[in-house]
Order: sequence, then C-alpha cells, then structure tokens
Amino acid sequence: MADRVNKINSQIWIGYPRAQQINARLEDLLVHPQVARMPCMLLYGDSNVGKTRLIRHFAVKKVRSTDEDETPTLPVFMTLAPSKPDEHELYCECLRQLNSPHRPSASAGALRDQLCSLLKDLQTRMFVIDEIHNMVAGAPVKQRIFLAALKSMSNKLQIPIVAVGTTDAFNAFSIDSQISSRFEPVALPRWTDGVDFRRLLATFVKATPLRERSLLSSDDVAAKLLKMSEGLLGELAEVIRRSAIAEIKAGRECITMETLTGLDWTPPSERR
Ligand SMILES: Nc1ncnc2c1ncn2[C@@H]1O[C@H](COP(=O)(O)OP(=O)(O)OP(=O)(O)O)[C@@H](O)[C@H]1O
Ligand SMILES: [Mg+2]
Repeated sequence: MADRVNKINSQIWIGYPRAQQINARLEDLLVHPQVARMPCMLLYGDSNVGKTRLIRHFAVKKVRSTDEDETPTLPVFMTLAPSKPDEHELYCECLRQLNSPHRPSASAGALRDQLCSLLKDLQTRMFVIDEIHNMVAGAPVKQRIFLAALKSMSNKLQIPIVAVGTTDAFNAFSIDSQISSRFEPVALPRWTDGVDFRRLLATFVKATPLRERSLLSSDDVAAKLLKMSEGLLGELAEVIRRSAIAEIKAGRECITMETLTGLDWTPPSERR
C-alpha cells in the first residue's frame, strides 16, 4: 500500500494538446536565428493551471548530459522573478543560481555584464523568468524599467526571453507597446469540458495505481471534477490524488461519484 501511495504522490507528466502547442512554440523560439530583435514570449494563465510544470518539462528535456572534459552547456536557463521589479536583485539571484561569485554591491550594469558573459559561455539559448507577475508589486515606473532591462538583456545576448506569470503579468506587459510587441502573449487557459478534457481524465486513470478502473470520464463524474477543480490542472490532480488515496485506504480501489462527494474539498475560489 505504501508503494502505491508513493506512486500517487509522485509527480507525473501528462502531455495535453495545449501543452504540446506551447512546446512547439518554445521549440521554434529556441532555434530562432539570432537577430537584433529576438522574439520573446509571455506565457500566462491562472495560478495552478500548470505553467511552471510545462516550462520546466521543456527546459529539462533540453539539458544534455556532457562528458566530464566537455564544457558544460545550459540551453535553457530558468529563474524566478524577484519579489519586486528590481533588476539588481534579478542579476544577483541568477548569478547565485549559477554559483558565480559576485559583488552584490556592484552596479546593476556590471552584474548584468557578468551574467550575460556567463550565459554566453554556457551557450544559453533561452532565458526563462517565472513568477513574472511579482513585478506588479512595484510602481509602474519601476515595472517599465524592469521590463526594459529584460528587453535589453535579450538584445545583448540575442536570445529569446520567456516570461511566465498570471494575468496580472499580462496586464502589466500590455501597458507598454514596445514590450507587448516584443513578448508574444501565449495563454494557458483553464480546462473546459470536451474531448480533450475527457482524454485528460482517462490519462489520469491510467496513471493511478488502483486495482479497479475508475470511470472518471463519464458525464456526471467529469462535470463534478470540473466543478471541484474549477478547470485548474493542479486542482484536478490534487482531487484525483486525494480520491485515489482515500480509495486505497478504504479498500474499494475505484474512484466514483461517492468518493468525490465524500472528500472534504473546498473549490479554489472559495478558499481563504
Ligand atoms: N502536465 C502535467 N501533468 C500532470 N500534472 C500537472 C501537469 N501540469 C501541472 N500539473 C499539476 O498541477 C500543479 C500545478 O502546476 P504548476 O505549478 O505548473 O502551476 P502554475 O501555473 O505554475 O501555478 P502558479 O501560477 O501558482 O505558479 C502541479 O504541481 C501538478 O500537480
Ligand atoms: Mg508556477
């Protein structure tokens, strides 16, 4: 039983059509010829919809294992936006991540040069910055400076920047036409019912180690799951995870409508 619970708790990756489309777009960006004005992307969607998993899955696939005597490369560099729009903090964090000794008291320009030269050495071809919506914590003028810094890093390295965040980020990027024309907005929407959603449920069933096959894709169960998760993939994964564990513990081994109604579950919009 412990093994099966562990398996349920472990992260699985499910490829779904929208993720595949976005992956294809990321792939295009990664091999885009180096030009002065590199195209960039803003991947946005509600919290827990699956943005970080998607981009991480993409980044991890691009890591090549290198021989010991080969110079290490990092095709996709991924970092988190600082808690406010502060380019100095961003560069320090990136340098920390890359274990590059640096003087935090150095100017933003000097730190940016250090970071850019390091990323060049690592042959980085894409710079990903997650949680970009953090920047709305700063005044509009600070936000503009921060975005301009990202743009100038993209120009300097001639690599695409992929910013990832919620709709707040989308709104912040829309204000400045120089930014919105450079960062193509790509949405990762919530799920709605349809063939793709039923297929997603069937994939979850296959990945869940229960002895009986749950019929999650029947009309009433699918509708219930959509209501409980409010279309958020992270919430859906959590409902199924908790249901599967409840079923294993109860020895019934099959997720049904009764399992779902028996869960102590508050839909995300009603929390707090
Ligand atoms: N492709 C996938 N396959 C399986 N599960 C997934 C997938 N994508 C997301 N999930 C589930 O959804 C959860 C939330 O995903 P993720 O952290 O990527 O959301 P997010 O959109 O980045 O949220 P936030 O805006 O809060 O950072 C994951 O922990 C995982 O359980
Ligand atoms: Mg995230």
